[in-house]
Order: sequence, then structure tokens, then C-alpha cells
Amino acid sequence: MTPVSMTARRTGGLNGVVRAPGDKSISHRALILGGLAHGLTEVEGLLEGEDVKRSAAAMTAFGAKVERLGEGHWRVEGNGGFSEPADVIDCGNAGTGARLIMGATAGFELSATFTGDSSLRGRPMNRVLRPLGEMGARWICREGGRLPLTLQGGGLKHISYRLPQASAQVKSAILLAGLHAEGGVEVIEPEATRDHTERMLRGCGVEVEVIEEGAGRRIRIAGGQSLKGLRVRVPGDPSSAAFPLVAALITPGSQVTVEGVLLNPLRIGLLDTLGEMGADLSVTNLREEGGEAVADITARYSQLVGVEVPPERAPSMIDEYPILAVAAAFAQGQTVMRGIGELRVKESDRIALMAQGLAACGVGVEEEPEGLIVNGSVRANHGVRGAARVTTHGDHRIAMSHLILGLASEEPVSVDEPGMIATSFPGFFDLMASLGADIAS
Ligand code: S3P
Repeated sequence: MTPVSMTARRTGGLNGVVRAPGDKSISHRALILGGLAHGLTEVEGLLEGEDVKRSAAAMTAFGAKVERLGEGHWRVEGNGGFSEPADVIDCGNAGTGARLIMGATAGFELSATFTGDSSLRGRPMNRVLRPLGEMGARWICREGGRLPLTLQGGGLKHISYRLPQASAQVKSAILLAGLHAEGGVEVIEPEATRDHTERMLRGCGVEVEVIEEGAGRRIRIAGGQSLKGLRVRVPGDPSSAAFPLVAALITPGSQVTVEGVLLNPLRIGLLDTLGEMGADLSVTNLREEGGEAVADITARYSQLVGVEVPPERAPSMIDEYPILAVAAAFAQGQTVMRGIGELRVKESDRIALMAQGLAACGVGVEEEPEGLIVNGSVRANHGVRGAARVTTHGDHRIAMSHLILGLASEEPVSVDEPGMIATSFPGFFDLMASLGADIAS
């Protein structure tokens, strides 16, 4: 049974070598592209988190044969397209699963009804529905483009769509729909976002044209291309690796190595930022695995200093701001994070919840409509107080961030709904315990 709360207590140094769980973004895409492809897709290192398992169940519902062969080892046998599901598709907590699968669904003459948990049912789907509608898809949904919604696909035509917000999920949804649009599709992203869909589509034999345009990209796919199955070795998730790495940076006497972390240039904004804050980080054993750069990262306890994070860096570290805010609480001086309005429409309003959680732990924070400023608490003989029970609104990253804070604060920190951590990081508690962390119910 999942405990109703978990509490992190100050420990001595954290030490050890661990492996990050498989990357969530790549895991979803491996299953979804496998479901769209003709033939066999074999995946190793799949993240077996709740979110990804929902995508696996969805692919079964759309007619693919999905098998778990062993830990992280999955096989998908696709029929070259989706068939109409007999029941509602429940994407759980997963925005990535919901948006990418809706995009893929739009390409086929069928209707499918999507829902999710209370967090996902509150998140905006209009950002995906608008371009899919311009291509010719139809739907009926709750007010404001909320789930549950029923999507009717098929008969799509070409669009050239400029993303109004930096979103790899929206970009990917349009690209997947474009595979079956007459004349294909063009997506223009003013700021480059994670490109796992483009890379994996190429791995499936699809021609994807990518033109660099300043800080952004123009991506074109010709319609009518079919996908063949592929082999995917999923690298470690940098967004999950961030938790043990920051834990080591803020806990005196620590040295932690996380092996096999994905270093895709569009995912490593946090490492750049921590470097600027004076973090002692080293990257070793840099190699290429399955078309992606991967390395081992070692973090040692460091005296951090506050920085101003360039807003244009946001897309490359969008999920890492909560844990960066924790690092900032243990830094000397102010850390300014701006241009992060997208954080308000994640699994929770992450700007509001980090501001509330940090303030409850005695950290000085200032909330802005699209920003967060953390006044680092660390001065001589003065650390972060802690002594709070933090409300997470069922957001896995809010929960993990505050538990990491509690490992280095003066007093313990508790979080509610710790079971939600399994959406992205099912082994979080065991991994942290293996490093010497004291996190218990
Ligand atoms: C993701 C894209 C990002 C990120 C999410 C995963 C993806 O969302 O926050 O956790 O796999 O494409 P947005 O596209 O909404 O920025």
C-alpha cells in the first residue's frame, strides 16, 4: 500500500553510483511509434513508470500487440496504423502520452475518447486541438479544451503551423498527424525543443527535414510515409537524474555518480545552470547510444551561488525548475528564473507550488506571473529550516524536489501523495536509500 506521506530527514553525505531510470519522453515515443509502425519494435531500458504504462495500454487498445519480455524490455508489434479502440483511452497523469497519441490518432478514420486523472483533465488540450482542427480533425470536449474528449480523425490536409508556445508535445502531435495528411506538414518552432520524435521517426525510416532558423527550427514531413519498426535503447532520464545529483550538491560530504544519462543538447539546460552556480559536476564516459549522447555524471557537495537563468534556456530544462529552485535555496544570493510561464500548466502549477513549498520551509521566494525568484538561505551558520508538510497536488516533481530539500534542511520535510512519484521515477525511494538518504513514511 502507498503511504499517505513520506518524510525526508537530514542525513550525512550521500555516496554511491546509481543508474537513472529510462527517459520518459523517449519511452512514450518508442511505444507510440512502435504502435504506428509496421512490424516489430524492441525497446530496452523502457521506463516502467505509471505514465508510460498508460501509453503501452493505449497502443494495445489501438490494435498493436504489446509484450513485456523482462525488466524494461518490451516488444511492440504494430499493424502500420491504428484501429478504433473499443473503450476510453485513459492516459492517467501523462500529458506527453495524451497529446502525442491524440496527434497520432488524428491521422486515421476512427474516433477515440481520451481521459486522464484529475490533473490531466485540468490541463489545456486546445494547444493540440487547434492545429489538428486546422488539418481537418474534429472533436467534442469539455469547456476550454479539457479532457475527456472524443476525437474524430481522418481526411487530414497540410498545414504550416507556427507554435505559439515552446512545446515538444504539441510539435510531436502535429508531426505524427502529418504522417497521414495530404501534402504532409510543416511545424515552425521559434525556440528549439526536445527533438526525440524527429530522431525516432528517422529511425523508423521516415524522411524528416529540419532547417535551423535562429534559436528555432522548421520541421517538414511529407505525407503518406509509412514507419518500420525499430530497436530502441532508452538512455537514462536527465530530468530524473537531476534529483540525486542536486541532492549530492546540497548535502555536505556527498559524492554521487549517475550512470548512462541522456545528454541531448536540448535537455541539458540544468547542467549548464548548475555549472554557472559553481556546482562540482563532472561528465565522464561520454558515448553515443542509439543515436543519442549519453554519459556518467558525478556531483560533489558544492557551495552554490545564485544566478540569473537566461529565459531562452527554459525549453532545455523545463521540467527541472522545481529541483533547480531547491538548489537555489541552498545557494548564496538570489536565483532568478524568468520566462517560465509554461510551468503553470504542467502536472500542477509548479510556480505556485514551489513558491508555497519553499516558503513553508523558510526560504525567501518571490512569485511572478511567469517567473520565480529564490533568495538563497545559506549564509554562515544559517541554512534552510525545513519543518514543513508540503502539499504536492499529486505532482511527482514537486514531491521529489521537496524530499530532496528535506535531506539537507535543518528539520524534516514531509510531502503528501508520494505514490505519484511512480509516474516518472518508480525506483526513487530505493535509489535514494542506496545513496544513504533517510526518506521514510
Ligand atoms: C515533453 C515535453 C515537455 C515536458 C514533458 C515531456 C515531451 O512538455 O514538460 O515532461 O516528452 O515532449 P511541453 O511540450 O508541454 O513543454
